[in-house]
Amino acid sequence: MATPMLQLDYANTLSTAIGKNHGLSPAEIKRAEPAVKAAITQIERERKDGKRRYRDLPADAEMVKSVKAAVRKYKPGAENLVVLGIGGSALGMIALQTALNPPLHNMLSKGKRRGPRLFVMDNVDPVQVGNLLDVLGTELKRTRFNVISKSGETAETASQFLIIRDLLAKKLGATALKSNMIVTTDPAAGTLREMADAEGWHTLPVPDGVGGRFSVLSAVGLFPAAMVGINVDKLLAGAAVMGERVAKKAVRKNPAAMLALLLHAFYTRGKRMHVLFPYAYQLKDLADWYRQLWAESLGKQQDLDGRPVIVGPTPIKALGATDQHSQVQLYREGPNDKVFIMMGVDKFCRNVKIPRGKGTPPSLRYLQGASLGKLLNAERLATEHALVASERPCLGLNFPVVNEETVGQFIMLWEAATSIAGLLLNINAYDQPAVQTGKDYTYALMGKPGYEKQARMLEKRTGKPSRWTV
Ligand code: PA5
Repeated sequence: MATPMLQLDYANTLSTAIGKNHGLSPAEIKRAEPAVKAAITQIERERKDGKRRYRDLPADAEMVKSVKAAVRKYKPGAENLVVLGIGGSALGMIALQTALNPPLHNMLSKGKRRGPRLFVMDNVDPVQVGNLLDVLGTELKRTRFNVISKSGETAETASQFLIIRDLLAKKLGATALKSNMIVTTDPAAGTLREMADAEGWHTLPVPDGVGGRFSVLSAVGLFPAAMVGINVDKLLAGAAVMGERVAKKAVRKNPAAMLALLLHAFYTRGKRMHVLFPYAYQLKDLADWYRQLWAESLGKQQDLDGRPVIVGPTPIKALGATDQHSQVQLYREGPNDKVFIMMGVDKFCRNVKIPRGKGTPPSLRYLQGASLGKLLNAERLATEHALVASERPCLGLNFPVVNEETVGQFIMLWEAATSIAGLLLNINAYDQPAVQTGKDYTYALMGKPGYEKQARMLEKRTGKPSRWTV
């Protein structure tokens, strides 16, 4: 059977649909093509030089083998899987779980789940973490912990790790650190790596040259995904199919190229907010994942030549139909400074029919016999029409179905589009100096050795009561 393919439809971004003031003309798109083509060529050249390794993850058979071996070891007897990680070490797995397992996975009985319950702890909120510890209290033996940190240093993950290490050692004994915990981290560097090597803990690598937000198709996402029953072979197969499409030099045949071209063209016209608007609960956390990828990769204050620039689109997440009743008023009548990426699903993996029944008032009879899937899709089309009528550009990103293959395609599509958009903005899409500054200041405030200078500076700023408090 042919692989179902994602489709990008840009008709409603054109001047023919939304008028000359806000739409793109065919000539404008044509003018933008050579720069996009050059970006594709550069990325393919970089790949040959061993860079952009995220693109080659779908073909990494060794990695998949090591992930499957770890699943064979850790899955038997597992009732709960707790992922400790943040940012790129968490958002991908959260998105995979929401897209590919039932929304109430954790509430299903054991026989009805494809794997353990999943908890992703991507924060250090004491109430949230404390509550999870309470719940796991009686089930610790049947709980597996996957600590994920590329750097092996991040304060949030490190603190959770120390709590869990202590808990496991105290409640189940030192051997539980080997049987119930698996560490995903840099193959060679970082405190977590040093500890894991010294203690003989089972580890999986975050491949060299793959940054956190580009790592979901590595062991970072694949191990927890396979643990909860997601078919990682199909996920990677979908990513590989998209990998071929996004390598195409013909810009109009390359969906990542068109996505980057259009969003960049609108960015230069002052539409600097990019709203990803899925009309499917399953896709809602892919929008969170996209937000990190687009924001952290493209928001930069220096260009590739070292010149100050301050660029970056603001990614926004909305969920249809819920956010129609919260944000669409602004989107349609507020400033015309946004591009909407409307995501729809042709065939939901299940549907619910609205019953015909006695006593339905005449004003509600139009709903009888329809499915909720039909209603949700009607809401999407209605919103898109309304946005287009007020000259707002809308891209359509269509999922024939939501499954491992199409989700794999979505991931590769946005990762490749990010690389191209980075080159169009002439910035480094792979670093995150501002995130690092936040991490360093946290180290300083928490008294980590080596950060005394920052600690003194922060104390000066925050030590005194502010005059500006009301
Ligand atoms: O994309 C990134 O690089 C970041 O968001 C990181 O994933 C995040 O800061 C967590 O870092 P680490 O995996 O090193 O703990």
